[in-house]
Amino acid sequence: MKLSTFIPTLLAPAALAQAPAPYTDAKSGITFNTFTDTKTGYFFGLALPANSTGTDFIATIGGKGTGWSGVSLGGDMKNKLLIVAWPNGQNILSSFRKTAQFGSPAVATGAFTQSTIANGTYVNSTHWTYTFLCSKCITTDKTTFGAADTTVSLGYALNSVAPTQKTSAASAINKHSTEGKYTTDLSKARSANFDTWKAYAAAPVVFKA
Ligand code: HEM
Repeated sequence: MKLSTFIPTLLAPAALAQAPAPYTDAKSGITFNTFTDTKTGYFFGLALPANSTGTDFIATIGGKGTGWSGVSLGGDMKNKLLIVAWPNGQNILSSFRKTAQFGSPAVATGAFTQSTIANGTYVNSTHWTYTFLCSKCITTDKTTFGAADTTVSLGYALNSVAPTQKTSAASAINKHSTEGKYTTDLSKARSANFDTWKAYAAAPVVFKA
């Protein structure tokens, strides 16, 4: 095979997922370092405080259509803290999940909480997006990236088909139709505006298992 035909073959999969880049949500004004899977419209964006000692972050997760989007805060699916979200009409449901097996991850409970940022949470004709303050979500038990880490691996997963009980945040989850991992530089998610954006958050969402 000629080198010129070999190289595009090798590069092809990378073209489907875009390296994290800054994205400012038009409604909330929050800037996230955002990974986008251009093939499906999945995205996950992260905003962090300027210093690297906190346990909180702001995130936006979303996609196109009515299926679910998920993130692994530790990269792998198993034994890492996962977050899943999906639209239900004009609302968006979300929960923490964790599993030791490749199967529908159970709702996870702990000190971590999600608080909706309403001005960054909506469903429109092109996509849906859920923006939230994730408090105590950066842990030291290796189930998530660490506060002082620089380059980390995050996992993404989605299915364009909604979970069977999409009106319940604790629904079983159907397996992803697309999943993978990407590396991201946490320093690119840091912002001096973090505390201003954090103040947009409502009271923590209470999850029922
Ligand atoms: C019934 C539900 C699920 C099943 C059966 C399942 C199964 C699997 C399997 C078998 C793999 C290995 C790759 C493959 O062979 O496909 C995998 C990878 C992965 N899954 Fe899931 N999964 C489920 C739900 C989820 C959810 C809800 C998330 C995220 C919130 C998630 C995140 C990931 C990620 C990030 C990977 C790639 C990294 C890795 O291999 O650990 N999965 N899953």
